[in-house]
Amino acid sequence: MKETILSGIRPTGKLHLGNYLGSLSNFVKLQKDFDGYFFIADLHSLNEPFEAKEKYRQILDLTKDYLAAGLDPKKCVIFAQSHLPEHSELAIILQNVVPVSFLYRMTQFKEKSTDRANEKVNAGLLFYPILMAADILAYKAAKVPVGADQTQHVELARDIAGFFNNRFGQTFPEPKPLFTETPKIMSLLEPEKKMSKTLGDSHCLYLDDEPEIIRQKLAKAVTDTGDGKSRGAKNLLDLVKIFSAKNVYQKLLADNQTGQLKYSELKQKLAEDIIEHFAGFREKKKKITDQAAEKILAEGAKKAKIVAAKTLAEVRKKIGLDKA
Ligand code: TRP
Repeated sequence: MKETILSGIRPTGKLHLGNYLGSLSNFVKLQKDFDGYFFIADLHSLNEPFEAKEKYRQILDLTKDYLAAGLDPKKCVIFAQSHLPEHSELAIILQNVVPVSFLYRMTQFKEKSTDRANEKVNAGLLFYPILMAADILAYKAAKVPVGADQTQHVELARDIAGFFNNRFGQTFPEPKPLFTETPKIMSLLEPEKKMSKTLGDSHCLYLDDEPEIIRQKLAKAVTDTGDGKSRGAKNLLDLVKIFSAKNVYQKLLADNQTGQLKYSELKQKLAEDIIEHFAGFREKKKKITDQAAEKILAEGAKKAKIVAAKTLAEVRKKIGLDKA
């Protein structure tokens, strides 16, 4: 029996290289060795500002990203969180075993809530980790592939599983984060910050970017003013390490150390290698129709339901909502 893993990405618009390398590319690698549940965290995406008329498109677009990047619905289950009311129901139940102080001390809550004006800090942001625990526990996932920024949430899911088990009897295995190699990809224009959509499109390389756009963005990327140690150049070299051939990386790295690196050459080579890397992705994604993506989600929801509904039936009995 393969171990169950589960992870999700919030549908908030185009995926950039940081998102891809931090999550999706790992999901693709993991799908063959695990019983994988990979979902669109649409409910989780509602606690930040969004346009209702864009949300459905974002959900389908992320589904197409999953498929075009190589997630295979024959090898794993792909679904949308909100298509399974079990996630929400379990979250409501789990709310009652976690002290609210645990939620206030989550780093992500503290960071995001200080970024926003007070009246914009909705309860969804505070309750975010409970829904995430419900996502994980509904499938009794053993491991959760996430980047470092999400490990605290997985640890909370573990605490929640423990609290529930103590009070109502052994029900949930305690999930562990599955650390995956997640290189930190920095902004092209402000390389001291993480690549992020909120900085602006020219800071990011998106998986959907057409070749000409990739060339233009990289041409404008900030490198440094001469000491060869700047973060911009390092960020680009890190990308070369990922996307270019080994000998290319070694040569550019050596050139950098001896002060002979020509940034224009580095940028051009990197642009061509990234363009090439995602050529198949772009082509595949364009061919996936909305209907095809909807069908994948519907089929995935059916499979996910079998597992999640079984857990919910067990939980409802354990806590006395249903006849034991
Ligand atoms: N919180 C995750 C993120 O922002 C997304 C997510 C939601 C998730 N539910 C999850 C990840 C369950 C792993 C498991 O990246």
